[in-house]
Amino acid sequence: MAGKSSTAKKTLSVSAVTAGKAVSIQQTAVTKSLHALLSESYALMLLTHHYHWNVEGPHFISLHTLFEQQYTELFAAVDIIAERIRALGAPAFPEGYGAMLQSASVAGDGKSAGKGLTGAEAARAMVKHLIKAHEAVISAAKKARKAAENAGDDESVDLTVQRVTLHQKNVWMLKSILA
Ligand SMILES: [Fe+2]
Repeated sequence: MAGKSSTAKKTLSVSAVTAGKAVSIQQTAVTKSLHALLSESYALMLLTHHYHWNVEGPHFISLHTLFEQQYTELFAAVDIIAERIRALGAPAFPEGYGAMLQSASVAGDGKSAGKGLTGAEAARAMVKHLIKAHEAVISAAKKARKAAENAGDDESVDLTVQRVTLHQKNVWMLKSILA
């Protein structure tokens, strides 16, 4: 029994070192840019969910429903982005999910644009905040697309083009609410 336990410990130790090396070796320009896309997308998903809960005013039902559609789509999207990173041989935010959220440029601070406001005024502030966060995702997706193009990674190009297209549509919808 003692021998088996010792062997198991050795195996774990070796695989941990191997995993540690893999992190530093296998991060590429593509996986780094996909990490940025993942963090912006995940933070936007949480922000959208938060506004789904807290939006108020005369357009409550339409905004509450629209936000649900958007965070639901984002939940599927972040899984696809993270699994693309894994398929490329890199871990998805190995330092933890806190780092994933903190590195998001717009929604990563966890603050609500509706704080201190009420009703339609709060709803407009939330929509404006979401537009900025969607634009940050578009910017990250375009950078990832460029990195994938440079690497000849057609599959990541395809993924990032789809993300840009989807978020541009969402920006159009959200801006139409403010018109
Ligand atoms: Fe809900």
